Amino acid sequence: MSITVFGSINLDLTVSVEQMPEPGVTSHATGFLKGLGGKGANQAVAATRLAKSKVRFVAAVGADAFGDSLKASLVALGVDTDDLVTMAEHDSGIALIHVDSTSQNTITVVGGANMAWPSDGPDAACFDGCKVALFQLETPKDATIAAMRKARAAGATVILDPAPIASTGMDALLAEADIITPNETEAAGLSGTKPTSFNEALEVARALCQRGPQTVIVKLGSKGLVYACKDGRSGQLEPFRVNAIDTVAAGDSFNGGLAAALAEGMELEAALRFASAAGALATTRKGASEAVPSRDATDRLLLST
Ligand code: RIB
Repeated sequence: MSITVFGSINLDLTVSVEQMPEPGVTSHATGFLKGLGGKGANQAVAATRLAKSKVRFVAAVGADAFGDSLKASLVALGVDTDDLVTMAEHDSGIALIHVDSTSQNTITVVGGANMAWPSDGPDAACFDGCKVALFQLETPKDATIAAMRKARAAGATVILDPAPIASTGMDALLAEADIITPNETEAAGLSGTKPTSFNEALEVARALCQRGPQTVIVKLGSKGLVYACKDGRSGQLEPFRVNAIDTVAAGDSFNGGLAAALAEGMELEAALRFASAAGALATTRKGASEAVPSRDATDRLLLST
């Protein structure tokens, strides 16, 4: 049984700044990093590093020099690139990222080849033998829905990270997901209510369960997470305390960790703890895919608390 990630791959151009730029202001960066990113790629790297099962990554690069270098980065990080396609006449995806001195980030994505999938998505064969399938929203909505349906038909548990959130059509995506993992902002976008406490986040999670998913996990960053299930289970998890310097790809490491844990047969609570540990460790390193922690480091953090 394997894990399949269908998603984006970007060249991340990351600048460190004291504070987020304001309109009309030119400022000096305090650092610069260029590397492999994209929510799909980060999640594929995380699943590959953290899971005991085989991981397939279904993604697209452009027919350009960036595409070659992104592919080489995936190979260097141990990700299977057999399902990577090159979209002729498209540029590879790019993400422009700011990280401020409080380690928060803003990201602007230029989709390129990631947005060139046909509306029927990738081949159904990408989900053969798949136990857990991961999706995000840096690919076209119709192609993503088609891919989620193919994953479901193959018997996989379908996890959707609803990021970046779309202003319309989210219900069609929620209907195809078993588990969704929005952060606070995405939960607010989906529900129309910005949760300001654990109880409010829990209420939002419960309400979102009524729109399709069996389980809704609201990631609250340094405040931990809450979850609610259609069968009535719910709860909250405290965060792992780490020295956070860069939150880029923390959510992706969480999702990759969740897929790895569920593919191993862990119960939801244990899987959430494992995923949280992976997400926390990702914040202790700069960059996106390069910041994803190893299985050993994740197991050590779990054992130390
Ligand atoms: O989740 C972080 C990722 O979002 C970055 O790697 C960037 O490429 C954007 O997709």
